[in-house]
Amino acid sequence: MTDLVGLENQIIAQIDAANDEQSLEETRVSALGKKGVVSEQMKSLGKMSPEEKKEMGPKLNGLKERINAAIVAKKDILKRAALEAKLATETVDVTLPLKTAAQDAGRIHPISQVWEEVTTIFAQMGFASKEGPDIETEYYNFDALNMPPSHPARQMMDTFFLNDQEDGKKRLLRTHTSPVQIRTMIDQAPPIRIIAPGRVYRCDYDPTHTPMFHQVEGLVIDKGSHMGHLKWVLETFLKSFFEVDSVKLRFRPSYFPFTEPSMEVDVGCQRVGNELRIGEGDDWLEILGCGMVNPNVLRSVDLDPDVYQGFAWGIGIDRITMLKYGMPDLRAFFDGDTRWAKHYGFKALDVPSLTGGLSR
Ligand code: DAH
Repeated sequence: MTDLVGLENQIIAQIDAANDEQSLEETRVSALGKKGVVSEQMKSLGKMSPEEKKEMGPKLNGLKERINAAIVAKKDILKRAALEAKLATETVDVTLPLKTAAQDAGRIHPISQVWEEVTTIFAQMGFASKEGPDIETEYYNFDALNMPPSHPARQMMDTFFLNDQEDGKKRLLRTHTSPVQIRTMIDQAPPIRIIAPGRVYRCDYDPTHTPMFHQVEGLVIDKGSHMGHLKWVLETFLKSFFEVDSVKLRFRPSYFPFTEPSMEVDVGCQRVGNELRIGEGDDWLEILGCGMVNPNVLRSVDLDPDVYQGFAWGIGIDRITMLKYGMPDLRAFFDGDTRWAKHYGFKALDVPSLTGGLSR
C-alpha cells in the first residue's frame, strides 16, 4: 500500500519549492497529469475490492483536491511576485522634465517654409512649379535671356564660373532663376504659367547679401497676356503672402535685358516702433523685378513675338522672408545655429495652407 501521507508531503514540498510558474507547472504535471503519480493511484482504484475502494477513494480524492488547492494558491503567489518585480523595474519619476516629442524637436528653416508658402499661393492661382539645375551654361543663364557676350549686364552679376569643360560650353553657378524661363519655353508650348523657386549664386557677402541665396521666378506666356495681368498676379500674391487685406504697390521703370518694358516693384510700408508693417504707409520697400518678356527672349526659343507675349518676375525669397518674419541679418540664415532655428524656425507640422493659414 502506497504511503499517501508521505506522497502528499513530498508533492507539497515540491510545490513550496517551485520558484517560478514553469517549475510549478512541471510539479502539477508530475502529480496530476495523465501519467502523474496521483493519477496513477486513481487508476489503481479500478483493480481494488469494493471495501478497499470505499476506503481509498475518498482518501485519494482528498489528496487530489489538497494538491490542486496548493498549486492554485502557489500560482497566485508567484503571479503577484512577478508583478511586483516588474513594477519595481518600471518606476516613474514624475519630477523629471517632459521629453520633447520628435515632431517638436526639429525646426523647418524659414526659407523652406516661405518656399512652401509661395508655392502654395501660386498653385492656388494655377501656376505649376518648375526647377532647373544650379549649374548652368552661359547660354541659358545669359545668351538666351538677351544678354549676348558683349552685354554689360553680364559683367555685373558677380558670376562664379566653373573651370572650362571638354565640350567647350562655359558653365557657371546660375546667378538667377531666369534660365528656368528658357528651359520651360523649350520644353512646353504656350500657354505657360509657372513659377521656379531655387538657389542662385553670386560673389557677394554682407548683412543683406550671401554668396548663395534664393529666388522665385515667375513666367506667363500666352497670346493675350498683358501688364494688367502682371499687376493683378503680383498684387494678389503679395496680399496673400503678407497676410494683409490690401497692399499699396509702386511700379518704377527699370531695366532688365530679358524684359521690355521692365519695372521694379515697391510695396508700401510703415515702421511702427521696431515693427515693420507691410501693405500701407508712407514708406516704400523694393521687393521684386518684373516686366513684359523681351521679344528677343521669345525669339531665342522659337516663339513668334507677333503671336505670343507674356510677363515675368523675379523675387528674392530670402528678402521677403526677412521682411515677413523680421530677421535683421541674412547671414544667420546659413549659420546652422540651432538657437536661431529654434527662434525663427517652424514646427514640422505647421504646413502652410491658404485655408489653414500660411504662417500660423
Ligand atoms: N533675374 C533678375 C535678377 O536676378 C530678376 C528678374 C527681374 C527676373 C525681372 C525676372 C524679371 O523674370 O522679369 O536680378
